[in-house]
Amino acid sequence: MNNIIGRIHSTEIPIAVDWSTFKHHILVAGATGSGKSNTVANLIKAAQGQGACVIIYDQKPDYKNICNPNDETHLFQAWKPEVVKPFGLEKVEKYCLYQGEGETEKSEKAIAIRARDVSLEMLINALFPYPDEGNQRDVFGGLLSYYRDNKDKNWTLNKFSTWVRDSRKKTQKDGNTQSQLDRIAESQGWGKLNEMTLDAMQRKMEQRKMQWLDSLEDNSHKSDTGIFSDIDGDSSVSRGYFVPRKHLDSSKVIVIRTNADGREYGLFLSYMLRKVYDLKRSGEISFPIVNIVDEAQDIFQGEKAIRDAATSTMNEIIRKRRSKDIGFVIAVQSVSQLPDSVLTNLNTRLIHRQNSVEELRKAIPSASQNLMANSLTFGPGEALVSIFEARSVVHAEMAPSPFELTKTSAKPRQTLGDQIGNNPA
Ligand SMILES: Nc1ncnc2c1ncn2[C@@H]1O[C@H](COP(=O)(O)OP(=O)(O)OP(=O)(O)O)[C@@H](O)[C@H]1O
Ligand SMILES: [Mg+2]
Repeated sequence: MNNIIGRIHSTEIPIAVDWSTFKHHILVAGATGSGKSNTVANLIKAAQGQGACVIIYDQKPDYKNICNPNDETHLFQAWKPEVVKPFGLEKVEKYCLYQGEGETEKSEKAIAIRARDVSLEMLINALFPYPDEGNQRDVFGGLLSYYRDNKDKNWTLNKFSTWVRDSRKKTQKDGNTQSQLDRIAESQGWGKLNEMTLDAMQRKMEQRKMQWLDSLEDNSHKSDTGIFSDIDGDSSVSRGYFVPRKHLDSSKVIVIRTNADGREYGLFLSYMLRKVYDLKRSGEISFPIVNIVDEAQDIFQGEKAIRDAATSTMNEIIRKRRSKDIGFVIAVQSVSQLPDSVLTNLNTRLIHRQNSVEELRKAIPSASQNLMANSLTFGPGEALVSIFEARSVVHAEMAPSPFELTKTSAKPRQTLGDQIGNNPA
C-alpha cells in the first residue's frame, strides 16, 4: 500500500513506484492548485516506505503538518481504505534555516552553517548574482581566497569584512600613501583596486549575508540560546552547526523549511546536496536518500549565476549517482522552468494540468495528441503519468496526500479559463 501513488483513471488499477523509480528521478509538474503537493506527499510516503531517508526542501512551506493525517477527509471517499487512507508520518524531524530570533517555530530546530563549509564558488554567486556585478564578484572572490590562504583559514564572513575595512586604511610609508590592500594587490599582480568597487563589494556583502551563515560566530547571537540544532561529536568542529551526518537515518523524514529567496535556497540546496553526496560516497551512510525539491522554479528561474551553479551541482550528483542511491523528486509549476539538462535526467513524469500543449510536449513527449488535449482541462489530482520503464503514458487519478498539507495561500486559485468562464461578458 505504501508504494501506491494513484490509479489509472476510472479503474482500480493501482499506479505504484519502487526504488528504481526514485533512483531514476521523478518530475512532478502542474499549474497552481493542480495537485502537485498531494502527489509529492505520496512520493514522500513511498520513499520512506522504501527505507530511504527523505530530505524535503520545503520552500513554500507545505509540509509543516506532515505528522497529522490529512484533514481533507472528503478526498478519500472515492478510495478504498485498504489502498489509500489518511495518516500522519512518523520519524519526522523538522528544521528551518536560521533567519534570526523569533523566526523559528516551536517544533523546529534552526540550521546554521559556516560560510567556509560552503563551496567558494557558490558563495560568490549567491552574494553577487547579478550580471553587472562582475568586478565586485571578482574582487570578493580574489580577496576572500587571499584572506583564507594567507591570513585565517578559520575565516568567517564577518572576520573577512573587518579585515577588508582595516586593510583599506591608507597609511604614509616612504612618502607614499598606500593601504595594506594596495600593497597586497600589487604583490598579487591584481593592479590597482578600484575604491568604488571595493565600497560596493563591502556594502553588498554585509547586506546580503544570509542570517544562517556563520551565525554562531556573529556576536549578536549567543551559542547557548538553544536555537541551533545539536552539537557535532567531532571536537574539531565548533558547536551548534548543522552536521547532516548526525541527522540522517533510514526511513527518517527531514523537513527543512527554507523560507528563503532563490539565492539562499540555491546556496543551501547546493551545500546540502554536496554534503549528503560526500557522506554516501565515503560510505558513512549506507541507506538511500531521496531529495524532495519543491517549488524548484524559485532556483531555476532566478539569476543565471544561481541557476547555473544549482544546475551543475545537481547534474554532477545525478550523473554520478546511480550506484550511490540518491534520488531526486523535482516539483515545478511548468516544465519550461527547468533547464533541459536537468529535465532529461528525470525519467518518471507525473504531469498535472499544464497551461499549454507546448509545455505538455516538453513534459511528456510520448503522450498521444488526444491525451495531451484532454489534459489541458484536468481537475485537481488528475495527471498524465509516465513511470520509468513503463511502456505507455496513462491518464491517472493521483491519490490525495495521506498527511495534512499546510494551507498557505489564501488567494483564490483561478486559471485563465475560470476567469473567462466566470465572466458573463
Ligand atoms: N489527488 C487529489 N485528489 C483529489 N483532490 C486533490 C488531489 N490533489 C489535490 N487535490 C485538491 O486540490 C487542492 C490543491 O492541491 P495541491 O495543494 O496539491 O496543489 P498544488 O499544485 O501543489 O498547488 P500550489 O501550486 O498552490 O502549490 C487540494 O487542496 C485538494 O482539494
Ligand atoms: Mg504545492
